[in-house]
Amino acid sequence: MMVSIKRYVYTLTVMAGFYVLYYLNIDNRDVLNILNNVQILSSIWPETPVSIPLQDFIFKAEINQSISLTKGCTGCPIICPNSFKNKSGCRGDDCLCFKSNPVLNFHTWFNNTIISKEELLPFEMMTLKDKSVKDPLRLPNKERSYAKVMILTEGGYKVGEDILVKLEVYNGYGDSVKRGGDDVRVRMVEINKQLTIAGRVKDYNNGTYIITIPTLWNGTNNVIIYMPYFREERVTYLTWTRQFNALFYYKAKFRKGSEVQVTLCSSRPNLPEYDVICNMTYENGDDKWYCGAPPSRNLSCRDVISIGDYHFIDVAIANGQQYLRRRGNTFRLFKELKVEVKGEEDTRRHLLPICKRLSRSKTWDTSLPTGYASKGKYFPMYCQINKTDEDIKTCLINTTVIFTGDSTTRHWFIRLRKFIECKQTVGTSDFYRWTRDAECENQNINLKIQWRPHNLPITSVEKLSNEIRFRVKSIALLLDDIPTEGKYIFVIHLFAHFSRHHYYVIRERLRHIAVSLRHALDRNENLFVAVKGPHMYSTDWMPAVNDYTGPFVERVLMNELVEFRNRVAYLDFWDMSSAYGNVDIHPTEPMQWNMLRLLFGYACP
Ligand SMILES: *[C@@H]1O[C@H](CO)[C@@H](O)[C@H](O)[C@H]1NC(C)=O
Ligand SMILES: *[C@@H]1O[C@H](CO)[C@@H](O)[C@H](O)[C@H]1NC(C)=O
Ligand SMILES: *[C@@H]1O[C@H](CO)[C@@H](O)[C@H](O)[C@H]1NC(C)=O
Ligand SMILES: *[C@@H]1O[C@H](CO)[C@@H](O)[C@H](O)[C@H]1NC(C)=O
Ligand SMILES: *[C@@H]1O[C@H](CO)[C@@H](O)[C@H](O)[C@H]1NC(C)=O
Ligand SMILES: *[C@@H]1O[C@H](CO)[C@@H](O)[C@H](O)[C@H]1NC(C)=O
Ligand SMILES: *[C@@H]1O[C@H](CO)[C@@H](O)[C@H](O)[C@H]1NC(C)=O
Ligand SMILES: *[C@@H]1O[C@H](CO)[C@@H](O)[C@H](O)[C@H]1NC(C)=O
Ligand SMILES: *[C@@H]1O[C@H](CO)[C@@H](O)[C@H](O)[C@H]1NC(C)=O
Repeated sequence: MMVSIKRYVYTLTVMAGFYVLYYLNIDNRDVLNILNNVQILSSIWPETPVSIPLQDFIFKAEINQSISLTKGCTGCPIICPNSFKNKSGCRGDDCLCFKSNPVLNFHTWFNNTIISKEELLPFEMMTLKDKSVKDPLRLPNKERSYAKVMILTEGGYKVGEDILVKLEVYNGYGDSVKRGGDDVRVRMVEINKQLTIAGRVKDYNNGTYIITIPTLWNGTNNVIIYMPYFREERVTYLTWTRQFNALFYYKAKFRKGSEVQVTLCSSRPNLPEYDVICNMTYENGDDKWYCGAPPSRNLSCRDVISIGDYHFIDVAIANGQQYLRRRGNTFRLFKELKVEVKGEEDTRRHLLPICKRLSRSKTWDTSLPTGYASKGKYFPMYCQINKTDEDIKTCLINTTVIFTGDSTTRHWFIRLRKFIECKQTVGTSDFYRWTRDAECENQNINLKIQWRPHNLPITSVEKLSNEIRFRVKSIALLLDDIPTEGKYIFVIHLFAHFSRHHYYVIRERLRHIAVSLRHALDRNENLFVAVKGPHMYSTDWMPAVNDYTGPFVERVLMNELVEFRNRVAYLDFWDMSSAYGNVDIHPTEPMQWNMLRLLFGYACP
């Protein structure tokens, strides 16, 4: 099929369910780039590390910007009604009420030279010298910006072509923002047929974004563009986590006899006002963790009985940042437009390989949308999930399923238990006390399902009654426990609880996991491993556990696990949640079951 267009000509060939575009006579290099090279947002920035002068690397809040981050935060209890009086004799939570506690004193910052400058992601590198926001009118403005469909052919779009939308971002003064880096997300919906798909965004780094959405169906589509985080918000978070190490602190409880003291903890040892720091790395399953030592001479680091959530730090913020903080719900509509698509639909999806046979490395290719949803059912782009519920049940015979992670995989455990008969053997079958291990078993079919929380910074961990020394199982240690025999389905997930930290914390975890994963895969050929990628969701309060880190986490996963691309499947839930327009931190039906369907699609013959 040849299509004549004003400025250029292209041919479209459809091959076995894949659309291949050939371009001829192109006089517009941008469009060539767009179509050949649609990438995840952050991938266009330079990869080469550059050295950064220390003064640029260390971000310091201006002391006179003294609006506090936690001001007006509902759900942030007032801590420390009494100030700290007697350090060694303090009791319980009062021990945290010292002068330069970063939760109470926003002038406390870390010496962040502990972050390796060479390993910043390109986005952070590009934005290191960005100034803090002073004037909200300089931020992207919904009313002043515009998006338009780039009409290529006279007759409009036909099935198989990529819809192109140009988004030009202007500020409140009506000037082009002249920089990129906004977190632009796109979803396309055909309401009548209930079809949804995510788009891809190319950032020209000058305020122009080109959005590409493949067309698999005909009909009237709504293209919905979100801008949950402006560049300035993403930069604000990164500079805060760089400066303060984390936006959130943890506390450890030490107990011996009747003496109880609580100290501050974080993933880095730079904790203010502690002469002695407890290295809790062993306790955290060999992933770095540190807590202040209890001040009483009667208590030692070994007397730790639990570690868990404490509080957000208090950051001094400028007016512009205060404005960002008040933007509320992060799933914000930026622009919406309609696009008509005509033509016959391709009906050859059944020619795609079944997902089990798709090369594992293809699951890591997120350059184009990796699936779409039709009437709530998810269809991956490169393979078909032809598993019936019965097939999945058969697949679970003689199998141990291990979900690691956070509340989202806890919900998987709960969901799967409802799907197949499985008697609870450890912990609870619902969300009650969700941070504790859960396990169920069906002896008839030799099935075990286990849920294991990742280690700190999870909400809380505690010393088990049978333990001599406190030790949490990290994902790496869980992988070390996989024996040489037996069928295992193992899911790795690290995301939401790390969003209050700099992404280097996830990177460290993955480097630890990689060693154990390599050995486990070598040891047991019946071990199937999938990495559950981050998902989109919306939160109302800016510094909460939000999804701004999603693109960074995805990038870190891609980089750190590159050697496993042929051995491990990647579950691209960033794309899936975008297609579903997911807003809940715990994806609800139909997305939840479709996440599991995709997992078993890859795992089961
Ligand atoms: C804070 O102080 C600096 C230097 O004294 C000044 O340049 C800046 O404008 C002040 N910022 C605010 C928000 O008042
Ligand atoms: C430590 O223990 C001793 C003896 O049990 C007790 O007298 C003392 O008050 C304790 N110290 C503190 C700081 O509680
Ligand atoms: C602090 O508390 C400890 C233990 O209760 C006590 O021994 C010590 O005298 C107190 N110090 C002061 C200055 O009150
Ligand atoms: C930060 O800590 C490192 C290592 O302890 C030290 O060499 C460096 O001088 C410190 N930098 C600042 C700005 O305090
Ligand atoms: C941004 O760059 C692209 C590609 O160079 C160009 O086509 C576009 O006009 C530029 N946009 C603005 C607002 O300068
Ligand atoms: C903490 O202990 C771990 C080993 O458990 C070690 O690798 C790490 O270097 C220690 N951290 C510090 C700051 O000494
Ligand atoms: C849409 O695609 C279906 C399936 O190929 C076809 O039957 C129908 O005629 C198409 N509609 C239009 C308006 O092209
Ligand atoms: C799924 O595909 C496999 C391999 O092509 C086939 O053996 C199986 O019957 C299919 N299952 C269903 C439910 O279509
Ligand atoms: C499950 O394991 C048992 C015992 O090893 C074996 O007899 C049975 O065939 C296995 N079933 C399946 C479906 O793999």
